[in-house]
Amino acid sequence: MVNYELFVPLHDLIPLRMEVINTITQLRERLAQHRDEGRTIGFVPTMGALHEGHASLVRKSVEDNDITVVSIFLNPTQFNDPKDLERYPRTLDADCRLLEQCKADIAFAPTVKEIYPEPDTRQFSYPPTDAVMEGAMRPGHFNGVCQIVSKLFTYVEPDRVYLGEKDYQQIAVIRRMVDDLGFKVEIVPCPVVRQSDGLAMSSRNALLTDEERKTASNIYRIMNESRTLGLSVQQTHDYVVSAINGIDGLEVQYFSIVDGDTLADVSSWDDAPSIVGCITVFCGTKPIRLIDHIKYK
Ligand code: PAF
Repeated sequence: MVNYELFVPLHDLIPLRMEVINTITQLRERLAQHRDEGRTIGFVPTMGALHEGHASLVRKSVEDNDITVVSIFLNPTQFNDPKDLERYPRTLDADCRLLEQCKADIAFAPTVKEIYPEPDTRQFSYPPTDAVMEGAMRPGHFNGVCQIVSKLFTYVEPDRVYLGEKDYQQIAVIRRMVDDLGFKVEIVPCPVVRQSDGLAMSSRNALLTDEERKTASNIYRIMNESRTLGLSVQQTHDYVVSAINGIDGLEVQYFSIVDGDTLADVSSWDDAPSIVGCITVFCGTKPIRLIDHIKYK
């Protein structure tokens, strides 16, 4: 039997250049010093289990700002399914190593008690962005995202925040929240990072078997193919859903073709200046829920 109490976190053995801060007070004090010395602050919020997609956000922030803060906080209030929260990968030491390599300056890794000493009862509502797709499938999810992101923005007061377009809908919801609450932060959306076979990088991919990963790469392949077929919006929708459902081990939960800004449904390619297809697919036997999107225009 392994005695986990004997294990010392890796960052206690090999010192990091990057600071790892666990409390809001310490974070605020440190950032106040940087701000007083005229430094700009870039922020990358994460839930840990970092991969190349996160690394690309951190590198962009390091390029654009004097100081880069990355939060690592598995936010319980955005999980409507306790099993999903339970099996979410937790890899703090590896995360800190990756952030160090990417030249982040501060990792903010608070406890749940630090962030939520009392339950957060605030309600956010930004329809249609938070009501459709993920909002409809995971009630309360975007409310939890707004709760944590608003708290983090208050502590970090970043000049710029770097968000992955992998969570396309999340960016639209956060934009509305930033406008509503008047945060003075520039949102920098960053493109999806994909594996060589097209599978979007995601912390959840770690939960897939090798075989399931291969199967999952069909999601992007089929969506990408649908751009080239000259079909109507409805035909494109039906093509993508039936082609993906035709593959063993994949089941589409929804595929919505929407206005890229408002996320309202479109019925013709002329309905909006930017049009995006957003998809959620169950993969494998556990099953793991994967999300992705494709830009049609
Ligand atoms: O995208 C995520 O990882 C999370 O939703 C975020 C923005 C870090 C809030 O917990």
